[in-house]
Amino acid sequence: MGNRVYHREPMDASDIGHSGLKQWVAGIAAICKPDAVCFCDGSDAEYQRLCTELVDTGTFIRLNDAKRPGSFLARSDPDDVARVESRTFICSRREVDAGPTNNWCDPQEMHATLQPLFEGCMQGRTMYVIPFCMGPLDSPLAQVGVEITDSPYVVVNMRIMARIGRQVWDKLATSGNFIPAVHSVGHPLADDEKDVAWPCNKTKYIVHFPEERSIWSYGSGYGGNALLGKKCLALRIASAMAREGGWMAEHMLILGCQSPDGDKTYVAAAFPSACGKTNFSMMIPPEHYKGWKVTTVGDDIAWLKPGANGRLYAVNPEAGYFGVASGTSNKSNPNAMATLSRNTVFTNVALTADGDVWWEGMSEEPPAGLIDWKGREWSADLGEPAAHPNSRFTAPADQNPGIDPDWQKPEGVAIDAIIFGGRRPGTMPLVYQAFNWTHGVYIGATVGSETTAAAEAAAGVVRRDPMAMLPFCGYNMGDYFQHWIEMRRHIRYLPRIFHVNWFRKDEDGNFLWPGFGENMRVLEWIIERCRGRIPGHETQIGWIPHWKDFNTEGLQGFTRERFNLVMKIDPEEWKHEIFSQGELYLKLHDHLPKELVFQRELLACRL
Ligand code: GTP
Ligand code: SPV
Ligand code: MN
Repeated sequence: MGNRVYHREPMDASDIGHSGLKQWVAGIAAICKPDAVCFCDGSDAEYQRLCTELVDTGTFIRLNDAKRPGSFLARSDPDDVARVESRTFICSRREVDAGPTNNWCDPQEMHATLQPLFEGCMQGRTMYVIPFCMGPLDSPLAQVGVEITDSPYVVVNMRIMARIGRQVWDKLATSGNFIPAVHSVGHPLADDEKDVAWPCNKTKYIVHFPEERSIWSYGSGYGGNALLGKKCLALRIASAMAREGGWMAEHMLILGCQSPDGDKTYVAAAFPSACGKTNFSMMIPPEHYKGWKVTTVGDDIAWLKPGANGRLYAVNPEAGYFGVASGTSNKSNPNAMATLSRNTVFTNVALTADGDVWWEGMSEEPPAGLIDWKGREWSADLGEPAAHPNSRFTAPADQNPGIDPDWQKPEGVAIDAIIFGGRRPGTMPLVYQAFNWTHGVYIGATVGSETTAAAEAAAGVVRRDPMAMLPFCGYNMGDYFQHWIEMRRHIRYLPRIFHVNWFRKDEDGNFLWPGFGENMRVLEWIIERCRGRIPGHETQIGWIPHWKDFNTEGLQGFTRERFNLVMKIDPEEWKHEIFSQGELYLKLHDHLPKELVFQRELLACRL
């Protein structure tokens, strides 16, 4: 193939004993024609070297080492700032297996489309081969992938987000299975062409072949488009594998909550992108909650599998957080602020005069002398935020002061509650509990939320986002609901299912619920319900808390009237809700489990 292989310490092609993998790498190199191939060892030295290179080429700005040790700022191309759902494809052999909510293309046709795009796409660049493991290395649920990328930014981020390098080469040994994932920013360099700070391409493809179990991504360097272990493998490909294997790959945080009596309860919660998973998973209980402690297992993805003892176990496949920066502060999420205090990559936040980072919501007043995410001197007169609303931090999970001691337990943690939620300015009460598993599946399947900046779409419109998985399900959403319903038969001790809404507003558009740490009060009710210690108040939609069982101690101004407002179930709003679910139901009609049709009918009758 004529490519030079860098003989970097200590890894090179001759260290790889896996001939199938070497053949695959050689084949990709022959297509993409990089100047060099680098097999990543995942070492600190390699990480430091790449960061320094990224500084030299202008992709990274090294932050003030006294304020933000070991940390960097990257500014993306303004056209490459979020996941591109319109360019994301599920290429199953049959269109019906991708379903009406995914973009589909025939796999052969898609390969033919991608072929010319990848041809020579890495010219002038180094091709990195990153072996990565999703899930703890010794977990029976772990999945190994190998990402090939021409972006050193991706390598650096992957080292934070996943377990990569030598430990995974060892796990792969000479013949281990892996999910191949090829990524290119789609910006080849001619002989003496100077690179740009954020190479990417206007043409973008984020492509999944669920039967081949492979991933191809072209044209974007951002987040879920490029860090292929995350949404592409751990959700889209994994959801298709999970369906076959009797487990579940979900867009869920996992948290542990210890009560003063020492009992520990784990819950998993699915909220759509930028709707508060990271916040909830790192929650610090309010002051008077003495003896209560919340710990993080994961903030974005959960793999759930029934254990031999009949309980449902969860592992976090990731090793870091790719969290929304905007809105994160010492007030809203102190554990996140501590996590990102060092060794963190920031993308599209503002730069302060003293070489630190800032974003909207970090402090009330923006500091003077900010440089915005586009590299301009910022002033409020610009009428634009200094940090992009989807600006992110990439930080190692083990820097989280609230990390759960069992977050890397190979078998995972046993889940007692599953929580669904979304941004709903109306209709949805603060919390309610499903009557049973199937009712809970219906609640999850009909989750609605206002869209956010996490994807390129009009923000603020309520759309259905079933189980927060609409952009992440690797197969037909109707079959996915069926899988959820069937899981009931494989779990003896079923988690209780709840729905929460931190985002209900009053007529003036103010949030009715303080949220953040105060969400502990809702979590406490959920846990007490799981333990069977308190009765629920039965309503048409499910059980809600009795006022007397809802802990309001120390919650200033939260009167019974306010409680009634935030818990209100308005039959008119609910009729509209049921009506508006019709759109999703129609779209999925031929694969929609009849259990869900019945659940909707039953709800209509109760109303
Ligand atoms: P992805 O990483 O995109 O999957 O999202 P995520 O669900 O982890 O989102 P994250 O926790 O970063 O959500 C951040 C947004 O939710 C910010 O705008 C927060 O202000 C807002 N948010 C989080 N918790 C609360 C809450 O309890 N109340 C209110 N009103 N807003 C909240
Ligand atoms: C999301 O959009 O749900 C994320 C961010 O977690 S990204 O990894 O970019 O998909
Ligand atoms: Mn997410």
